[in-house]
Amino acid sequence: MYGAELAEIYDLVHRGRGKDYRVEAEQVADLVRARMPGARSLLDLACGTGQHLRCFAELFSEVAGLELSEPMLAVARARLPRVRCHQGDMRSFDLGRRFDVITCMFGSIGYLATTRELADALRRVARHLSPGGAVVVDPWWFSENFLDGHVSADVVTLEGRTVTRVSHSAREGDASRMQVHYLVADAASGIGHFSETHLISLFSRAQYESAFAAAGLDVEYLPEFQDGRGLFIATA
Ligand SMILES: C[S@@+](CC[C@H](N)C(=O)[O-])C[C@H]1O[C@@H](n2cnc3c(N)ncnc32)[C@H](O)[C@@H]1O
Repeated sequence: MYGAELAEIYDLVHRGRGKDYRVEAEQVADLVRARMPGARSLLDLACGTGQHLRCFAELFSEVAGLELSEPMLAVARARLPRVRCHQGDMRSFDLGRRFDVITCMFGSIGYLATTRELADALRRVARHLSPGGAVVVDPWWFSENFLDGHVSADVVTLEGRTVTRVSHSAREGDASRMQVHYLVADAASGIGHFSETHLISLFSRAQYESAFAAAGLDVEYLPEFQDGRGLFIATA
């Protein structure tokens, strides 16, 4: 999962699909500043290739990232040589300091496998948060609004490379199993194929809210963000 082949084309695919990291980062900063006007330090959990971090670095005085996948992290570190990008797991990280803002974007929280892991991770987040600080979580689909059997397809041609991405997601117990196939073509290498399978938890809105509460965080759910997935914002 999130191996070297995906890390190499991840940014190109999401740029081609129209994901606007800058707009998302500005929305997060506005939501945070409405609650903590003086927020200056930010930690992005599961920061991937560092696309939000690059924008957050222009909006906050000090930013850092944490990411599990070495290949994704390598892209983030190359992109942001002056930003501390830690290799680590959001279930077990301990950075020995606090941040005013902690974010976890693009459904990454869904890689926590159980409500127990979710609650433990949010407790860990709360321990890394400054007094009055804010947490922003862009959740995966809720169990109540997930579209079972959803298929999506995109063809992106950018920078001399064409990538076709086809995904199928199906409910499997309390999770969604998303299979994604990629065809990658360019003039020098011809056509290559790889696939990844992602098991992403389908927590309900209520399960997220009780995990925030158990971590001692006051949470609000804002349904109008992130293409219908919404955003949680919580304060310490
Ligand atoms: C959908 S990507 C999102 C990446 C980035 N936040 C973005 O918006 O582009 C999910 C990321 O979560 C990371 N991830 C999954 N489980 C993790 C964990 N337990 N701790 C830290 N990162 C994790 C993956 O390696 C991957 O980079």
